[in-house]
Amino acid sequence: MCRTRGAGEGARARSIHLLVPSLFFAHTEGEQNEEPMKLRTNLLLTLLLCAVTLMLTVDAHGQAGMLKDDFGKTPEGQSVDIYTLTNSHGAEVKITNYGGIVTSLKVPDRTGRLADVVLGFDNLDAYLKGHPYFGAIIGRYGNRIAKGRFTLDGVEYKLAVNNGANHLHGGIKGFDKVVWNARPLKVGNGAALELTYLSKDGEEGYPGNLSVKVTYTLTNANELKIEYSATTDKDTVVNLTHHSYFNLAGQGEGDILKHKLFMNANRFTPTDEGSIPTGELRSVRNTPFNFLRMTEIGARINEPDQQLQFGKGYDHNFVLNGKIGTMRLGARVYEAGSGRVMEVWTTEPGMQFYTGNFLDGTLTGIGGRVYQQRYGFCLETQHYPDSPNQAKFPSTILKKGGRYHTVTVYKF
Ligand code: GLA
Repeated sequence: MCRTRGAGEGARARSIHLLVPSLFFAHTEGEQNEEPMKLRTNLLLTLLLCAVTLMLTVDAHGQAGMLKDDFGKTPEGQSVDIYTLTNSHGAEVKITNYGGIVTSLKVPDRTGRLADVVLGFDNLDAYLKGHPYFGAIIGRYGNRIAKGRFTLDGVEYKLAVNNGANHLHGGIKGFDKVVWNARPLKVGNGAALELTYLSKDGEEGYPGNLSVKVTYTLTNANELKIEYSATTDKDTVVNLTHHSYFNLAGQGEGDILKHKLFMNANRFTPTDEGSIPTGELRSVRNTPFNFLRMTEIGARINEPDQQLQFGKGYDHNFVLNGKIGTMRLGARVYEAGSGRVMEVWTTEPGMQFYTGNFLDGTLTGIGGRVYQQRYGFCLETQHYPDSPNQAKFPSTILKKGGRYHTVTVYKF
C-alpha cells in the first residue's frame, strides 16, 4: 500500500541506492589491472557498502512507537490515560484505559491519505456522559442474556437488566466503563498495549473472580489485532468483544449504506422482538442476510423483513463458517470512494453485524462530526447472544482453572 509518509521515505531510500553503483564504478575503473588482493579488498568494500545501504533502506521507513498522555479523571478520582500507538507506515490508533476504548484509528486510503475510520470522542467527559459503546471492550458478556438470568452448576444467577427485559453488554457497569491497568509491550512487528482488569466475584451478578487480559497490537501490516484471555477461580460465563463503529470513508463522513460487505456466514441467528435468539440457525439464502457475495449494506436494509424490523436494520449475529478456534476470514468491507478495505479475521464462532440503527444525531464526535443514524457499522466477533440459556449454541462457560483465549484482527 502507498502512504504519504512512506512515499517520501521510499524516495530517500531510492536515492541512497543510486549512490552505490557510482561509488563502486568510480573506484574500480581506475584499478582494473591491479593485483587480485586489491580487487578482493574492493569487492569487500563494495559488499560492506551494500550492507550499509540495505540497513539505511530499512531504517528509512518509520518506526513503530507509543506515546502516553493524561486523559483526565473519573468522577471517583481514578486517573485515566490515553496511548497513541503508531506503526512503521504511520497508521495510528489511540486507546484509553477507560473501557479499553479505541477513540481513533487512522489508516490509509488508496492514495496513502490517512483518515480516522472509527466514531469517537477526544475527551474523557464525552465518554463519561454516556454513549452506545463506541470503540469499547465489552464484557463480561458481549450482547444479550435473556431476562438477565442463567443457571450454572445448578445455581441460578441474576444479572443486571439494562436493555428492556434483558441483560446487555455486561450490565450497568460493564468492562466498557471500568479503568483497566495498562502496560506498553515490546513487540517486534508494531506497537502493543496490554490491558488487565480483575472483575470481582459477583460483579454485575456474575460468579467468580475473573482475571482478564486484552492486548491491542497495531502491527506493521496495518492490522489492529486484539487478543483476549481470562481465567477464573469459580465456573462462570465469558464472551468478550470489541465495539468499534467503523466508517471507512472517515468518521462523520455520511452513512455507511454504500459500503460493500462480504460475510463468511451461511447462517445467522434470528431473534425475537427483544433481540434474543430463537435458537434457530437460519440459512441466509433468499434473505437480506445473504452477504456471501459482496453487497451494499444498504441494498436491502429497508425491505419489509421481520428480522430487519426487529433490529431496526441489521443487528444480528452471523454464524461464521469454518472451524471455531481457528483464525479465518469473517468479513470483508469495501468503501469505493476511499478504496479502503477492512477484513475481520477471528477465532470466534459468531459476528454481530450492527448498522448503527440507534444513532440519532444527538452525539457529536471528534472534529464536531454529528453522528446520525447508520453513520457507523460494528462487526463484533463473539459467541452467539444468550448462549448461557441456549444448550445448542457453542458454550460460553469458563471452568475454574480453565483459560479463555480468543483472537480477532481488523486488517486494513
Ligand atoms: C450491540 C447490540 C445493539 C445495540 C448496540 C449498542 O450491537 O446488539 O442492539 O445495543 O450494541 O447500541
